[in-house]
Amino acid sequence: MDDHRLSLAPMVDWTDRHFRYLVRQISQRVRLYTEMTVDQAVLKGPRERLLFFRKEEHPIALQLAGSDPRTLAEAAQVGEAYGYDEINLNLGCPSEKAQEAGFGACLLSDPLRVAEILRAMVGAVGVPVSVKMRLGLEGQETYPELAQKVERFAEAGVGVFIVHARSALLRLSTKKNREIPPLKHEWVHRLKGDFPHLTFVTNGGVRTLEEALFHLRRVDGVMMGRAVYEDPMVLAEADRRVFGLAHRPKTRLEVARAMRAYLEEEASWGTPPWAVLRHLLTLFRGRPRGRLWRRLLSEGRSLRALEQALALLEEVEEEGEEEEKGPKGDAEGPLFLAREGV
Ligand SMILES: Cc1cc2nc3c(=O)[nH]c(=O)nc-3n(C[C@H](O)[C@H](O)[C@H](O)COP(=O)(O)O)c2cc1C
Repeated sequence: MDDHRLSLAPMVDWTDRHFRYLVRQISQRVRLYTEMTVDQAVLKGPRERLLFFRKEEHPIALQLAGSDPRTLAEAAQVGEAYGYDEINLNLGCPSEKAQEAGFGACLLSDPLRVAEILRAMVGAVGVPVSVKMRLGLEGQETYPELAQKVERFAEAGVGVFIVHARSALLRLSTKKNREIPPLKHEWVHRLKGDFPHLTFVTNGGVRTLEEALFHLRRVDGVMMGRAVYEDPMVLAEADRRVFGLAHRPKTRLEVARAMRAYLEEEASWGTPPWAVLRHLLTLFRGRPRGRLWRRLLSEGRSLRALEQALALLEEVEEEGEEEEKGPKGDAEGPLFLAREGV
């Protein structure tokens, strides 16, 4: 089964359904993960807004966070009823809020409780339940301890382990936790050797399909996050190179046109155009007029702005001009906002 060969990481505020739809235009097979969604929000919050997705998004997994076996099992059932293909438990979020509520990475200090949660979730749904975990806590972990956790969670019925291949340092900010603890992908490779019947997906710092293919010789899957958000076209060749499909990938322009049609429909349902447009800013990254594209979308924030930007890009892209020179990032888009912690 190559279900998990390549997936898009769950990223709060980034991998909402609009960004996921964009990624689906670029790859038909990459597995998509929702943003982390707290079980109580699923049970008591605006369910439709949190859980709705389009059928084109399959295969898609719902990532849940929580610490109570009963409410997590109930939330998993709701997710299954919505049609999600997999329910994933977050065991990696190091944020203060997560620690206060007792979910995310801090749960790794209590593997028996995690096993109890997982048993409840697995018993409640028919779709697979997976985990997304860190190697351990505070850099104190040893490989045998990690392997023991995997064994416990597998006994509870989990077959898919997504491992963000670094420790969680709970005193550091969430952002620093994605950079500072060193990556140890080799531990995930080793897990695959020790538990060949389980599915292991490695995650952290993978920037290109070449790197993904390197890991795929050692594990079942690779999950990519920031590299995809920063340049979604990094996945352009994924269906061919990772999944062995023969179809021609869409060009940037074709993707942009598909998103124009999508936005038109979404806007008619009342979706604010910026909710979609903000994810399109990096679509022409490094291409001629790529920065103009960003500016037009950021300033116009409307379907009309997208149409104007598209017309301008159609002129140059179809002529196949050279890549845009100069610094790649600029100071307007979501990346900048994220960097600044806005
Ligand atoms: C903005 C942002 C939000 C994130 N939100 C989540 C989340 O909701 N759930 C989760 O498990 N990980 C979350 N992560 C971590 C990513 O899923 C991933 O593990 C991490 O970014 C490392 O992968 P990468 O180097 O490919 O980005 C987030 C990361 C970023 C950058």
